[in-house]
Amino acid sequence: MPNSTNQFIRPLTTKINEKGNLDIGGCDLTELADKYGTPLYVIDEHTLRSICKDYKKAFSKYEKINMLYASKALCTIATSKIISDEGFGFDVVSGGEIYTVYKAGVDMRNVLFNGNNKSVDEINLALDLEVGRISVDNFFELSLLNVLAQSKNKTVDILLRVTPGIECHTHEYIQTGNLDSKFGFDLTQTDRAVDLIVNAYKNLNLKGIHAHIGSQIFETKVYEDEADILICELVRLNNKYGLNLNEINLGGGLGVKYTENDTPPSTFEIAEVIINAINKSIEKYKIKPPIIYIEPGRSIISTAGVTLYTLGTSKQVPNGKKYFAVDGGMADNARPAMYQAEYTAVIANKPDAKASQNVTIAGRFCESGDILIKSILLPEIDEGDILCVFNTGAYNYSMASNYNRVEKSAMVLVNNSQSDIIVYRESLDDLISHDAVPDRLRDNVE
Ligand code: LLP
Repeated sequence: MPNSTNQFIRPLTTKINEKGNLDIGGCDLTELADKYGTPLYVIDEHTLRSICKDYKKAFSKYEKINMLYASKALCTIATSKIISDEGFGFDVVSGGEIYTVYKAGVDMRNVLFNGNNKSVDEINLALDLEVGRISVDNFFELSLLNVLAQSKNKTVDILLRVTPGIECHTHEYIQTGNLDSKFGFDLTQTDRAVDLIVNAYKNLNLKGIHAHIGSQIFETKVYEDEADILICELVRLNNKYGLNLNEINLGGGLGVKYTENDTPPSTFEIAEVIINAINKSIEKYKIKPPIIYIEPGRSIISTAGVTLYTLGTSKQVPNGKKYFAVDGGMADNARPAMYQAEYTAVIANKPDAKASQNVTIAGRFCESGDILIKSILLPEIDEGDILCVFNTGAYNYSMASNYNRVEKSAMVLVNNSQSDIIVYRESLDDLISHDAVPDRLRDNVE
């Protein structure tokens, strides 16, 4: 079976150029660092488009497939436009994500609004911009959504978010009757929810059910079980309530290769498992093929992204580790500190120099836990060298903060030897732009 981009550590266009520097999208990374400054997020358009195409091709054997991209992985106007052009809709979880994809010109009918505690303002925005589906998470939201839709004289198409009782760990999973999860309806609660929708909430139009079983998943069998559980539940609800629900959303979760130890399956393997499971269930329950949604985030955008840092100071702990500090860290990539995530990196201005030392890459933020890479083999390092960390496209910028009042980094898109800014670096004035000073404190304040 063919490989797909999520199985590579580096963007597809990565090479060493004639100057001996690392080059992505035809752009010399040291020149990008010079031109735009560091830390710098770089997104390779070719890699991003390739994985979208891989997904499309992989699922083309099933006619009624709807691909959504989970925007939480990375949500910018430019990347949304590319992903939309590749034929994806969007899973959004906030007013900010709704607004961004709207500004990217996305057809809002292909947007699903998801989340466990949507605000009134966010729901109103979704209704005003006519997002295609709202995935309803709990009883409170069913009632709220009905009231808000009624006040606008609208009927809204919804899915019920359920917890199917599959809990994934990266390599293994357990199945339990009811999970301790903050998301969605337990399967013992769906009857009551459907009862309310059918009999009381006249402005809600139930189309199907939705689940998401985890993230950075390497296991394919979980999807088989998930598809079967959701279809079984759909059939049960249809039979019990005389409905025609025909939409199943399987969520996201396909993993990526952060280090050589990671072995994610390809989009093609995942697609085969899902399509086979669905076809099996279609036969088992004797139903018409349902419309299947998938909503991957990480596997779409992670490999397309790298982050460039400038190496600065170093410290040798006597008889201990050698630390090298970069000019970014936990504020632009929270994942090592939050999840002990591991990354792979090379020095962009000497990518083929022989590794000679085991070092720790530290961030610049005031926290001992701000370590980007605990242990990595690198060549001799000089101050000013450019470190390229791979696979930072997903959940890096989208989880970035202004900790220590540091400006958020810029992002560039590279393609065919061209680089374009898609997120400007924040300025010092951006940082204080939302501060306000009460009049009584104004003396001496600029
Ligand atoms: N759909 C739903 C309902 C989700 O909650 C998520 C992710 C996705 C789709 C996309 O999952 P993906 O394909 O990206 O695995 N911040 C964490 C990841 C949190 C994922 C949350 N939900 C990280 O950096 O690893």
